Amino acid sequence: MILISRCCVLEIRDLMSEPLENANADIDVRRLILQTLESWNAAGITHLTAVSVPALVEPNPIVQQSRSDSEQQATQPHLESNVEMARKPAATSKTSVPSASPKSTTPETTTIDSGKSLTFGERVIELKVLSDRVAKCTRCEELATTRTQTVFGVGNPEARIVFIGEAPGADEDAQGEPFVGKAGQLLNKIIEAMKLTREEIYICNILRCRPPGNRLPEATEASNCREYLDGQLRIINPEFIVCWGSCAAQNLLASTESIGKLRKRWFQYKRARVLCTYHPSYLLRNPAAKKDVWEDMQLLMKELGIPVN
Ligand code: URA
Repeated sequence: MILISRCCVLEIRDLMSEPLENANADIDVRRLILQTLESWNAAGITHLTAVSVPALVEPNPIVQQSRSDSEQQATQPHLESNVEMARKPAATSKTSVPSASPKSTTPETTTIDSGKSLTFGERVIELKVLSDRVAKCTRCEELATTRTQTVFGVGNPEARIVFIGEAPGADEDAQGEPFVGKAGQLLNKIIEAMKLTREEIYICNILRCRPPGNRLPEATEASNCREYLDGQLRIINPEFIVCWGSCAAQNLLASTESIGKLRKRWFQYKRARVLCTYHPSYLLRNPAAKKDVWEDMQLLMKELGIPVN
């Protein structure tokens, strides 16, 4: 019904206004649809697509390369993915990480994760449960009393790529979504240049609360929030992680090396291959470093099979 559209790119916020006005369904059914959409939206899911109508899905050569038959036949709604390569293959075999033939892409550490693969619906529910816990979190007394709201994360629960930033700033604290301020606008441009969309990626931070005055996250704060980050990564189970800036890189990888030293190398975190690069805020202050970030993104694009031209 509503979820099946020629467009296939459906913004949940639009859908949330549709069911009650336009659907011919019973009022209880409409209410249920609305509640479901609201809970998905609260879990950071912004877009859906209807993969149950194969004829409406544009053929994409990279989809064929990255999606299994069983996933192509899936009937439940999926997050929008007009560049469907950003959706992970259904099989999440721990050996499925693309083998790194070039020396430069060999991960530097290896950790085996639990290997559990969740359905789309399970991911949605688990993310919602976790985000509800985060919303009530008071582990960091200062942050819990100064925040407007927690900023959990946003994007595709089946994303192949998770972006990790530092912490919410003023705009993110006000809107409840990561990377919506100036740095976020630059991040959006980088995503676009990579021929991806924000909705195909999952975006979160080391911290889920804004540090007052945008100060650096403290080690105890990062450690308090780590369970939530690891929870999101376990649920999404991405193939790739990009750490934006030294806070994200050093925290995720437990490293003390500078971001300059960490970039241009592949690391492994559980199932995901990890790339580190400069933070978009740094790029706003040092535009000359944009070319370095673009070089880093090209490394990722290559691994994703996105043509770099
Ligand atoms: N900077 C970050 O690291 N994260 C955000 O969400 C916004 C700005």
